[in-house]
Amino acid sequence: MHLLTTLRLPGAIILPGFVSFALADRVGPTGVVYALDRSPGALAHLERRQKERGIGYIQRIIADAATLQPDGVQAGSALITMVLHHADDPAEILRNVVRFVPPGAPVVIGEFHPEGPCTSGPPRNHRLAPEKVQEWCRNAGLVVVAYQRQTQEHYLVVAQRDH
Ligand SMILES: C[S@@+](CC[C@H](N)C(=O)[O-])C[C@H]1O[C@@H](n2cnc3c(N)ncnc32)[C@H](O)[C@@H]1O
Repeated sequence: MHLLTTLRLPGAIILPGFVSFALADRVGPTGVVYALDRSPGALAHLERRQKERGIGYIQRIIADAATLQPDGVQAGSALITMVLHHADDPAEILRNVVRFVPPGAPVVIGEFHPEGPCTSGPPRNHRLAPEKVQEWCRNAGLVVVAYQRQTQEHYLVVAQRDH
């Protein structure tokens, strides 16, 4: 099971829901992809696209990722992409998401690099330094296992919930 938002992939034209569907293909109909966003509009769009494709095993959750309670929602991993720079309290999102996955589970964060060319994505002053994201991870009880600059604009922090 996955708890996720969507992901921007380098070099691809990204449509809303793109990564939810990519993950759904990986998970298959015997699993569940949780698509979490506080925007009802974003998830309404995903719902329309799910209906077109006949994919029922993406469960949409309209909620604040910083405060959602994990009642009934447990996931094998979490993917948090292009959300933290939008959030009011990004550190709190990481602290909360840790509660949804078991010890050892991967938690992957995708963000825009502050030293990127800024030809797409948010302006430079909205971008988060990877060192800051990694510090928030550690404070949330995550072990940072990898850092990857995917493109000039994008990076990934790969962490695991501590045991
Ligand atoms: C740039 S969009 C990224 C959307 C998607 N994750 C992607 O990668 O294409 C940022 C999204 O973060 C969501 N967001 C910001 N803060 C949030 C929070 N505290 N809880 C849930 N969603 C949040 C916004 O509603 C918005 O849809």
